[in-house]
Amino acid sequence: MTQLEQEIQDPTSLAVAAASRGCPVYRADPYPVYRQLRETAPVSRLTPPHGVETYLITRYEDAKAALADPRISKDMYAAIDAYHTIFGDSSIALDDNMLFSDPPKHTRLRRIVNRAFTPRRIEVLRPRIQEITDTLLDNCAADEVVDLLPAFAFPLPLKVICELIGVPEEERDDVQEWCSVVARTGFSKGDKDRLADAESTLHRYFQELIARKRKNASDDLLSDLIRTQDEQGSLTDGELVSTLWILLFAGHKTTAYLIGNAVYNLLTHRDQLQRITTSPELLPNAIEEIIRFDGSVENATFRHALEDITIAGTLIPKGSLVQIAITSANRDPERFEAPDDFDVTRQGVQSNHLGFGTGPHYCLGAPLARMEMQLALTSLFDRFPRIDLAESPKETEWLTVPFPAFRGLKRLPVTLNAH
Ligand code: HEM
Repeated sequence: MTQLEQEIQDPTSLAVAAASRGCPVYRADPYPVYRQLRETAPVSRLTPPHGVETYLITRYEDAKAALADPRISKDMYAAIDAYHTIFGDSSIALDDNMLFSDPPKHTRLRRIVNRAFTPRRIEVLRPRIQEITDTLLDNCAADEVVDLLPAFAFPLPLKVICELIGVPEEERDDVQEWCSVVARTGFSKGDKDRLADAESTLHRYFQELIARKRKNASDDLLSDLIRTQDEQGSLTDGELVSTLWILLFAGHKTTAYLIGNAVYNLLTHRDQLQRITTSPELLPNAIEEIIRFDGSVENATFRHALEDITIAGTLIPKGSLVQIAITSANRDPERFEAPDDFDVTRQGVQSNHLGFGTGPHYCLGAPLARMEMQLALTSLFDRFPRIDLAESPKETEWLTVPFPAFRGLKRLPVTLNAH
């Protein structure tokens, strides 16, 4: 029997193959595959294109425990061979940050950023986020088809995070371009060369921006971080550059894809949209439900096993990569009743979903992301109450990447008639 025949006979093998390879049908609706894996292989060995031995965790309780398990490390430098295979040498300089470290380094780096990333600083941004949102919507033509991703969902969080960090307005397009190349990791030689070029360009840009801010400090997060570095010496130059990168990267695509997923799911579940437009006080809960139901971070970032670990009866050998399928955990019927229903009134969703992670690496930007989502959705649906999808859901294309970090749309064409 060929391997393919075996896979077709065995739905679990088929599910593992689909999860490993990112085929388009699976990307359009990965949830049946995840259901199959939760039921039959909750910790499954994948065969990803990068070739490094990888285990995927799909059940809620296992995922929650794994995200906070000190035996499952985030320090990718300690797994340097795997790291080289997946990302190449050029990424190392940009990944010297909290997301790629364990305590005590993680605690030190996160505390420094947390001190600058205060609720006050985020609240101060509110009118500016509203202004950015309004300007982007002003530029959307009401009488023709608009792809909402490039017109609205992407520029909004990028402009906000640049504003927060202190990237000057006229430099933001370049920064966006370099970031999107870096985020598009591929495995061909050409991909790796393009990645290396963009990474070194970003690295040089950040070094130069830091030098400028050091001369002319202003009221932004980067100037605060430089002050902390100069006064306390607790942040190396490399860590500072890399911290800027993680803020920019983590604060941008995650929110952009979530805006897309939110609009798409609300337009395909009109009853739920009506509930939030008639009762706007439901919106914060609706946003949490969207993160649970179709969140933008499909898998947590790479981890690796520091020792042999057994989860749900499966041995994960020391040194293996561990991927945690957040979007699968968030559809686990053991945790959420009727998990495949999108219900903006669902009780207790905010404190239970894993869409922002959990444990030491819980999303630092969650309060900012929530504020951006609220302003974006309120403004969009207020301004364009007759907004509709411009193509049928059957034609919708989702990102196809070999080991998906993000769940998001390739495009979101809509018609925006105001009346
Ligand atoms: C809806 C939007 C967002 C989602 C769904 C999201 C999701 C996540 C998740 C799941 C993690 C944990 C990753 C892991 O454990 O492997 C994380 C970490 C992180 N996020 Fe977010 N995020 C969002 C927006 C933001 C924003 C706006 C920022 C910054 C301005 C941000 C900054 C970070 C940082 C710095 C970390 C690393 C924290 C650490 O390692 O201690 N995120 N995010």
